[in-house]
This record gives sequence, C-alpha cells and structure tokens, in this order.
Amino acid sequence: MMMRPKRWNPGLHSSAEHPNRFLLARDDRNGAFMKGKRLAAVCLALLLCALAMTASAEVRVMVVSDLHYMAKALYADSELFLRALRAGDGKVSQYSDELLSALALEAERLHPDALLVTGDLSFNGERASHLVLARRFAEIETSGTPVWVIPGNHDINSATARGFSGSTWYATEAVTTEEFAEIYADFMNVPAEADHLSYVAPVGDRLWTAMTDVSFYREQAQTFGVFTANHAEWLEGVMQQAQSAGVRLITATHHSLLQHTAFSRDSFLMLGSESMAALARKYGVRLNLSGHLHVQHIVEQAGLADCALGAFCVWPHRYALVTLADDGALTYEARALEDAVLPEGFSEESRAWFYAVADEKVRASLDGSGLPAEEIDAMADYAARFNLAYFSGTYRSDDPVWWEDPARALWQRNDENAFWTYMNLVMNESTGDSLHFELPGTP
Ligand SMILES: [Fe+2]
Repeated sequence: MMMRPKRWNPGLHSSAEHPNRFLLARDDRNGAFMKGKRLAAVCLALLLCALAMTASAEVRVMVVSDLHYMAKALYADSELFLRALRAGDGKVSQYSDELLSALALEAERLHPDALLVTGDLSFNGERASHLVLARRFAEIETSGTPVWVIPGNHDINSATARGFSGSTWYATEAVTTEEFAEIYADFMNVPAEADHLSYVAPVGDRLWTAMTDVSFYREQAQTFGVFTANHAEWLEGVMQQAQSAGVRLITATHHSLLQHTAFSRDSFLMLGSESMAALARKYGVRLNLSGHLHVQHIVEQAGLADCALGAFCVWPHRYALVTLADDGALTYEARALEDAVLPEGFSEESRAWFYAVADEKVRASLDGSGLPAEEIDAMADYAARFNLAYFSGTYRSDDPVWWEDPARALWQRNDENAFWTYMNLVMNESTGDSLHFELPGTP
C-alpha cells in the first residue's frame, strides 16, 4: 500500500471574508513534510504498517469526538472540578489522561489508516490542554496512525477556559485561531490563505475525508456552527477533485449535518446544513461523521447519513470504525473502548458516574414534590437508565421495556418536570440501530 505524504493537499480555499477569517501564520504548510526525528520514526512505523497490510486493500478509519481533554495541571485534585463535573453532563474529564492512553492503545491495537478527531478536543479551550493533547497525538502518529483534527465549539477563543485549585477556580489562557492552527499544525492540512480550518485528509489511496470546520469562533466561541458560501466553494472543489481522482469521499464536521432530534437545546444542527447536504447529494457523498450531540445517533435522509458519534469523554467511551472494503462497501460501526485498554474497573466506575449524574439531577428536580420516596427512587432509576441507553446509542424506540415500565406511568403523572420533557420527547422519536450503518459496494 502506498502512503501519501502527510502534507499532501488537494484542497482549495476562498480568501473572501468569512466569520473565522485568518491567514495561517506559517508559510511552510503546503507541501511541507513533518520534520526531524519524529518524521523518521513515523516513516518507519508507517512502512511497517504498510508491509503488514499489503494483503488487504481495505481502508479503515478510526473516529473519535468530544474528548474534552483537561490537562492535569489545571485541576490536580480539585474538589471543585469534581463537583462541577458531577453537576454536568456525565463527562469523566478527571480521567482525561487515562482515556487518552486507552485511545492510544486502541489505535495501536487496530492500526487504522487514520484517526479522525471531530472537534471539542479540549475541556473548554484551555491552551495547556491543547498543548498536552498535541503531544499525545504525536505519540499516536509515531506508533503508525496519522491523526487529523478539526476544532469544535469549545476549542478556540473560549471565554470559559478555567483552571481549578482546591475549592476555587481561576481564568486560564485560551487559544486564538492562529494558535490552534500552530499547535495542531501536524494534524491538519489547511491550505495557506484559508479562512476556515477545513482541509482534506487522505486515508490510504482510495478514501478522502473532507474535514469541514463549521464551528463559529470569531472573537469568542459560540455553540452553533455554520456552513457558509465559502465552505461551499471549498467543498465543491474538493468533491470535483475526488470525482476526477476516482477516490471515495466522506465528510466530517463537528456539528450535525442532519437533524437528529427535536430536542435542539444547543444548536446541534449547523446553520446552512441544507446547502452542505445538497452538495453531498449532488456529488454522491453518502456519509458525514459528526459529534457535538454527545449522543450516539444515526440519521439517514434521502441517501445521505449523518453519524453522530457519542462523546469519547462519556461512558461507554465511543469511537467509530469506518471501513471501505475492496468492493466499495462502506461501513460505520460505533464501538466502546474495551476493558483491556482501560484501567481495571474504569468502565464500571464511569457508567456509575453517568448514572449518578442523571439520578441526582432528577432527585433534585423532584425535591419538594411531596411524592413518596419509593416513587422518587423508581422515577430516578428509570430516568438514569434511559439516559445511559440514549447517550450510548443503545436505546431503541421499539423496545417495549421502556413503555411497559411502571415508572413511566409515575412520570406521566408528573409531566411538568424538565427532565421528563426531554426524556418524553426523545423517547417518542423513532430511533433504530444507532451503532451501525452500511452502504453496499458493487456486486
Ligand atoms: Fe462537546
């Protein structure tokens, strides 16, 4: 299998005005190769992988999203950080280093042709977190897996980059767009004069991924994402080049390309998504990889699928394996980190943490309701179990277990509750297999 240089770049960018407009600080980005000792190590590892894989033309891509990595130096053993996480959405960012080590082990075990990271690399955009992450990605590359990243809504110009010490917090340095591009220069392939951090990641010889940066962070990070006319101009150029080159193209974004749920609290669907979806359909691009929701969920509309990957920082620590077979069949499989690559008992503890986060929220919301303790217990347990199933992508709306549980009737009698509003809405949405997606090849 022939390996392309990491810096090979078929992309093009418009230099017209864009919300995230900037010029790359370095002028050696196009066509440059990784330098020094690391390059030699990477070349050797890639050569060994290439030799080992000559028997197969199958292309395999590992995908992770929403790492929300927090550098240890920023929280040490702060109880406030733990309390903040416990009041949050189930992240176990207090174990960021353990999770990253497990990811590196999994990549080493699988030897994919690339590892794609679709945004929200850092906890809340801390410079210290980005610096450690870039070093860890370099280690993964050294072991033979090229890494490609795009930013998410938490990564650049964050107003909430904080460090924690004991029971207090302090503001810590965030990164600008230029600093982000500099820190991750080895893991992006952005053309010079780019006005968004989009680029093409070549994977093996037969697959390109259009890493499409739709996050909006001019001046200050925003939750929403936007696909603009400039993105469209760039992406259509990539699609045309992929067609001429005869390679398969998929896309990757942080925000959703298709609507996954009516529960759109956090601007999940990118603005301008219809324009990106129309381009994809025009050029026969059938798969987009996204994150941001933190929920493992797949939606397919009119021949186009958007596979939202569950957040890596949340149980069961999902990653996806995308495989392009010899016959052109494309498969997506969401997996969980195996116990073998995690510290003993980690998965169990992380699951219990996510359960407790929902359980405690529900109990707090029912405080003062006057309901008997056993009813509150049953309702909290039902909500916490549902939350685990929904976020991990194992909830199916045709599974009678959810509809026949007596706790559901208790919730229906208390339908003013905000947690029930969320739960009832997403439970009633049609949800099938959220872990697998397949496009057939040529017979
Ligand atoms: Fe996120």
